[in-house]
Amino acid sequence: MTLRKTLLSVIAAKSSALSVDDPQLRNSNLRESCVTAWHSMKTQWALTTACLAAQAMAAGQLDPLPLPPMGFNNWARFMTNINESIFVDAADAMAKNGLLAAGYNRLNLDDAWSTMSRAANGSMVCDAVKFPRGLPWLTKYMRSKGFVPGIYTDAGKLSCGGYPGALDHEKIDTRDFQAWGFEYLKMDGCNLPDDTEAKYHEIYSRWPRAIAASGKPLVFSNSAPAYFFDPDNLTDWYAVMGWAAEYGQLARHSADVATYPDGDGWSSIMYNYGVHVRLARFQRPGFFNDPDFLITDHPSLSFEEKKSHFALWCSFSAPLLLSVDIPSLSQDDLAFLRNKDLIAVNQDRLVEQATLVSRDDRWEVLTKSLENGDRLLTVLNRGAVTGTLKVPWDRIGLSSKAFGTASVRVKNLWTGNVRNVAIADGGIIASQVPSHGTAVFRITKSKSPVIPRGMVFNTLTLSCLTDQASGKVIWSECNASDAQVWAVNANGRVSSLLRPDACIVDDDGKIISHQDGCEKTSWVYKVSGNLISSVSGRCLTESANGTAAGVSCGHLLNEQVLALPVGVKVDRR
Ligand code: GLA
Repeated sequence: MTLRKTLLSVIAAKSSALSVDDPQLRNSNLRESCVTAWHSMKTQWALTTACLAAQAMAAGQLDPLPLPPMGFNNWARFMTNINESIFVDAADAMAKNGLLAAGYNRLNLDDAWSTMSRAANGSMVCDAVKFPRGLPWLTKYMRSKGFVPGIYTDAGKLSCGGYPGALDHEKIDTRDFQAWGFEYLKMDGCNLPDDTEAKYHEIYSRWPRAIAASGKPLVFSNSAPAYFFDPDNLTDWYAVMGWAAEYGQLARHSADVATYPDGDGWSSIMYNYGVHVRLARFQRPGFFNDPDFLITDHPSLSFEEKKSHFALWCSFSAPLLLSVDIPSLSQDDLAFLRNKDLIAVNQDRLVEQATLVSRDDRWEVLTKSLENGDRLLTVLNRGAVTGTLKVPWDRIGLSSKAFGTASVRVKNLWTGNVRNVAIADGGIIASQVPSHGTAVFRITKSKSPVIPRGMVFNTLTLSCLTDQASGKVIWSECNASDAQVWAVNANGRVSSLLRPDACIVDDDGKIISHQDGCEKTSWVYKVSGNLISSVSGRCLTESANGTAAGVSCGHLLNEQVLALPVGVKVDRR
C-alpha cells in the first residue's frame, strides 16, 4: 500500500478525530514526535491525525482498542456447544433489541470451534458441522450487521477444551484468523509445555511479534495472568500482569465466572471483583484488566445482583462481554444492559478503573474521575439487608470548602434522577441500597480540586494501611475508618483523613505519620505496585508483625505490592 493510501485508509478508519491529547496516544512515543507537526500544521487536522496514526501503525503501536470492548462471547452460557446459529441469532437479536445501538458490537467465538486436528498445511480447521457455512461466511455476516468478529485459541499444545492449541503455529494462525475476518483474538493459557512464568512469557511474547509481522491490527486478549493467581504468593502473577500489560490490550486475570446454569453466580462475580480491585494501576487507554464475562442471565442471580454485576463492570471500565442467551433476554435485563449513563461511564475516554475508598464487612465504596471532570461514586452493599450509607465529600476526593457553589448537581445513574445536593449536607447519601445492590452517582465537575483518596492496601493480604493517633502506622483489617482513607497529593505526599495535616515518612525503617517537614516528603507509585520514598529510596512494606516499615525494595515482593487510589500518578518506567 502506498503511504497516501495508508493515510487515507487510516483517516477513513477513524470515525472520530484524534487530538494530540487523545488518551489513545498518551502512552505512545509517537505523541512527542507528532506534537511538533501538530503545532506547525494546526489547520491540517486530518493530515496530522493521519501522521500520528500512520506512524503508530508502522511502528505497531496504534492502540487497536482505546476503549473497553462490548459485545458477546458464547463461553459462559453455551460452553463447547458453540455453533453458527448462536452467533447468527445473537447478531440478529442484538441488531433488533438495541444492544448493538447501545455499543455492544463484538461477537467473539470461544473454544471448540475447530476440529480436533490441523490440516496438512498446518492450518486450523473449522468444524463444518458446527459452522456449515464456514468462518469467512460467518465473519462477513457479522460485519454486514455491524459487528466486529473475534476468535479464541490457546497458547499451548491444546486448548482448555482439548482442541488444537496454537503452540509453534503463531504465524500461520495469525494469518488465517485475519484472513477469515477476525479482528480480536483471545489467547488462553492451558497446556503450555510447563507452568513457569518464564515459559509463559517466552510463548506469549511470540504473539505481538506475529501480529506486528502481519501488518494488520488484531486485538490481543491475554489470559496468561489467570494461570498465576496463587492466593499464597502473587509474585509471578504480578510479573505476568506486568508483561501482559505490554503485550496486548486485555488481561484475563482470575478464575472463570460461573458457567450456565451451574454454581453460585454471585460468589463467582464477587471473587473476580475481589481480584480485580488489586490491579487498577495497570489499566490505561488501550489496556484493560478483564474480570471475565457478564453472566446476567445466570439463574442463581437476583435482579439486584445482575444490576450490581453490570454497574461494577461499568465503574471499572472493564470489558462488557455478555455471555448470555441474547435472544431470550428479558425486557428488564435489556433495559439495564442498555443504560446509557452507565455505558458512558464504562466507555469514558479516561478509562479509569474505579478504586476503593473504603471497605468494611458490608460496604464497598469506589470512586474515579471521568473525562469531563465529573466524579463517579459507586456504593456496593455486600450485606444481607437493605441499608443506607453517607459518603462525605472528602472521601469522594472533593473538598467541601472549595466547591465555589452552595450545591452540586448529582445524577443517580440507576434512576436517572438529577438532584442539586447542598454542599452543607456533607456528602452523598446512598439510601436504601438493597442487599447485594449497587448505587451509582455521577457528580458534576465543580471548582473543587480532585485529590485521589482511598485505601492503600497490600494486594496479597488485603490489609489496609492504617494511621494511628500516636503517629505509628500499621497494617490492619479494613474497617472504613478515617485512619484508612489516604490522600496522595500531586507532590506525592500521603496523608490520612484521620490526621490530614500529617504525612507518612520513612524514619529509619519505621513508617511514621508526622506533621513536620511534610513538604520535603514524597512517595512514588510504580506500576510494579511499589510505593517508594523518594527520600530513603525504600519501599513501604507490610512487616510480618503488622507494622508499616521502610525496607529496601525487592522484586515484586508480596509484602511490598500495594494498591492505591486511581488518579495517583503511576510511574510506568
Ligand atoms: C478457560 C477460559 C474460559 C474459556 C475456556 C474454554 O477456562 O478461562 O474463559 O475460554 O477455557 O475452554
